[in-house]
Amino acid sequence: MKRQSVAEIREIFLNYFQDKSHRVVPSSSLLPAGDPTLLFTTAGMVQFKPFFTGAVELPYTRATSCQKCLRTTDLEVVGRTERHCTFFEMLGNFSFGDYFKEEAISYALDCSVNHLGFDKEKIWVTVYSDDDEAEKIWLSKGIPKERITRLGKKDNFWGPAGDSGACGPCSELYLDRGIEKGGPDCATSGTCRPGCDCDRFLEFWNIVFNQFNQDTEGNLHPLKQTGIDTGSGLERVALLLQGADSVYDTDELRKIISFYEELSGIKYDEAVALSKLPDQKSERARTAANQKAAFRVVTDHIRSVLFSIGDGIYPDRTGRGYVIRRLIRRATLFGRKLNFREPFLYKLVDRVVEIYKSRYPELGRNAIAIAKTIHAEEELFLKTLELGLEKIETLVAKTKAEGKKTFSGADAFLLYGTYGFPAEMTEEIVAEQGFDFDKQGFQEELEKDRQFSRESWKANKVSLMTGQSAEKTEFLGYSSLLGKGNIIYLFSDNKPAKVLKEGQAGAIVLDKTPFYPEGGGQVGDTGFLRQGKNVFKVSDTQKENDVILHFGEMLSGEFSVAQELEAEVEAVRRERLRFHHSGTHLLNGALRSLLGDHVLQKGSIVSAEYLRFDFSHPSALTSDEIRKIESWVNESIRKDFQVSTKELGIDDAKKTGAVATFGEKYGDKVRVVQMGDASVEFCGGTHVSHTGEIGYFFIKKESSPGAGNRRIEGVCGPAVIETFQNRFAELTESVQNLNLKIKSELGEEGAKLLITSPVPGPDEIREKLEKEGATAVTFFRDLSENVAAKIEESASSFLKTKRSLESRDFENNASIIEKVFASSVETGVGKIVSAIFEDKDPNSLKGLSDNLKVREKNLLVILGSKNPENASVVITCSSDLVAKGIHCGNLVKTACEVLGGKGGGKPDMAQGGGKEKQNLESAIAGAVNEAKQILTGERV
Ligand code: SER
Repeated sequence: MKRQSVAEIREIFLNYFQDKSHRVVPSSSLLPAGDPTLLFTTAGMVQFKPFFTGAVELPYTRATSCQKCLRTTDLEVVGRTERHCTFFEMLGNFSFGDYFKEEAISYALDCSVNHLGFDKEKIWVTVYSDDDEAEKIWLSKGIPKERITRLGKKDNFWGPAGDSGACGPCSELYLDRGIEKGGPDCATSGTCRPGCDCDRFLEFWNIVFNQFNQDTEGNLHPLKQTGIDTGSGLERVALLLQGADSVYDTDELRKIISFYEELSGIKYDEAVALSKLPDQKSERARTAANQKAAFRVVTDHIRSVLFSIGDGIYPDRTGRGYVIRRLIRRATLFGRKLNFREPFLYKLVDRVVEIYKSRYPELGRNAIAIAKTIHAEEELFLKTLELGLEKIETLVAKTKAEGKKTFSGADAFLLYGTYGFPAEMTEEIVAEQGFDFDKQGFQEELEKDRQFSRESWKANKVSLMTGQSAEKTEFLGYSSLLGKGNIIYLFSDNKPAKVLKEGQAGAIVLDKTPFYPEGGGQVGDTGFLRQGKNVFKVSDTQKENDVILHFGEMLSGEFSVAQELEAEVEAVRRERLRFHHSGTHLLNGALRSLLGDHVLQKGSIVSAEYLRFDFSHPSALTSDEIRKIESWVNESIRKDFQVSTKELGIDDAKKTGAVATFGEKYGDKVRVVQMGDASVEFCGGTHVSHTGEIGYFFIKKESSPGAGNRRIEGVCGPAVIETFQNRFAELTESVQNLNLKIKSELGEEGAKLLITSPVPGPDEIREKLEKEGATAVTFFRDLSENVAAKIEESASSFLKTKRSLESRDFENNASIIEKVFASSVETGVGKIVSAIFEDKDPNSLKGLSDNLKVREKNLLVILGSKNPENASVVITCSSDLVAKGIHCGNLVKTACEVLGGKGGGKPDMAQGGGKEKQNLESAIAGAVNEAKQILTGERV
């Protein structure tokens, strides 16, 4: 077998399917668009979910891709096994209502044997327990029965990805790696086959026969069109084709390992060899095994982290971001086994990006930001890692001494809240020492803490300085995020204290500090105050007169009055605060320049997450105004004005024309912040040094906080990308639902309204719908809240309008009217007209009858409609025919009996229907006949 490189395998696979008329589709983001139930993209089929279910018009029916995937379900074994990764690339070929089992199996075998070079004699396959058809196809392709295994739902039924979508039975290809890879009894037991836990058979290709759509309740519904979803893990294929010992020994991953070898001076191959020493318990073997695992962990995690950040998923406290934070922290922890004590992951970002950037250009574009983010995260965690590890040892010893087998949730919470140890990481560390972990206890502590912070926030606002002499804190934080200061006051339990001890919450006043206290709308800084191993975590900073108070908790050791400390502000957060504060000034500039000088600032909030700005203005902003304001701000960002700050006497400051905030008190000296000719304001806040650093500005929402005032909420910098990603994900999902709804209500007719663009802008949707006569559709620029509900509402009103327009067309259509008259039966005393239509509601039939009746007197109109599920009948006549014995209610009754249903009404108007729509012709003919007999006097 030739040893193909990973890059070659990718190309062979994609070229093979391109030759078989498949569209080569680029990998989608790791952030699944429009699927909030899925944390990350976990398979190649994720971007095609709507194609399988028929939610969108198909741009093609065959596709192939190499998809970035992230799965963290087996995170704790990554590094310890030969084949687990969190990040991997998945090769796939897909059919949407095009080919099915026969071709999918044929392609899989042909591609793996004749193109990738697998030995056919060593290929085994599995099929779903009752899938005789798949087995028959495999037999016909030359795979003998003894190499075909049937497996149940657990192994051979795939999907859906997320909580709903396409799924179905599957069939997998395995390579037999030889009996020597089997478990101790495998060679002799004779039962070792695919599905066995040992390493002999390795699955490398999975073909899912998509037949069902699973709804969110878990019910399976047959798909309108069957489909094929194939997944072949690139790293695994490479492992097999390259005859490597593990996925980490395939060429690309091995290259990343070599970067860490260089950085650590430790040799991976040596560690692997030593880890296999016969005495597994020896210190050398254990150290080597840990080093081997560490090389693998950092290699895997750096890929996951940089690809995620490259797709805009930043480390965070919750959700997707939390998973990324966990990965970085786990890599930091394992990095210690390679003697890394300083941030190290970020150092290799450039080199890893180099391997992948031609395939994934987003990495190249974002490399600097990725490295910066990883560096900041590593630093943040390293600050408390040593302390946390010491603490964990003490807690483990305590647990052992108490004779307990379970590590308590409260202890895990202490490690989490105080040292930033993700609970899962603690779980992994204590499991290594043989302890269970109390997950539920941890969750309870977390909830208690949330409650506590909500309440203690109020306590923070209580004045602490009352009764203290009025000292002044010097603020260092305009030019630096680090600084030294001496403790002037300590507070614990809202009372002055001499000492603050480990675990105590309190407040600290220094003579100098780089921590910005909440003011001018900008929220207070967070970070650390430390002195050697004594560490205080600052969760908020406030100001009372000229004194700055750091609120937080003593993580370790203790502090006492007069001690000198090092203060360090959390840098990433401060950076986001700067973006939002400078962005607020530009917004103020834009409002005054575009709306007029009557705009006065009435309040603002500048946080790391967003900015909020209230101002005086009499009316709601139009979407055109909002767009212009955004453009104005973004242009000022692009002009990259230098941001200058000056301390001036109040009179000189006023001469600069700087904008003052209404209601704010200023001292004799004020700080004036100027951004070119875009903005000059009195402001004590922290800012970027050039406006270009802000990157982007986006208005999320415009509303009113009260009469005469307007409120704008917006985001700057990375928060813009995050906002777009979230909004578009929501929007895409809503549009898909809208498509499904239109399709189900309007049938194929509605299909032409389907919106196929993956992320259509609101205008695009509106125009499309308006062209179809949807005057009632309103779309919202305000995508900030309830997008789904708003789109849903718009969809309903659109459908209503569309239906009424359609029925108007029908009722007034001259050629329809002609046609109906052509059917007339003359009786001498009146005319009977009748017609049958497809899929018309009774109101449309009545409307048409009215239009017929105005044309002639003595007219009886008998109309029927054949609908998908039933048939309906409407019979009306002019009043002169009632006098001649016609009773429409009776005629409808007769017709409906033939339809197996019911109906009735008044002498001049009646309607009804029944399920047996195939009898509609004879029902109508019967009614015509009965009416004729009545009018000609044959029946009374
Ligand atoms: N969706 C299937 C899998 O991930 C095949 O692509 O295994």
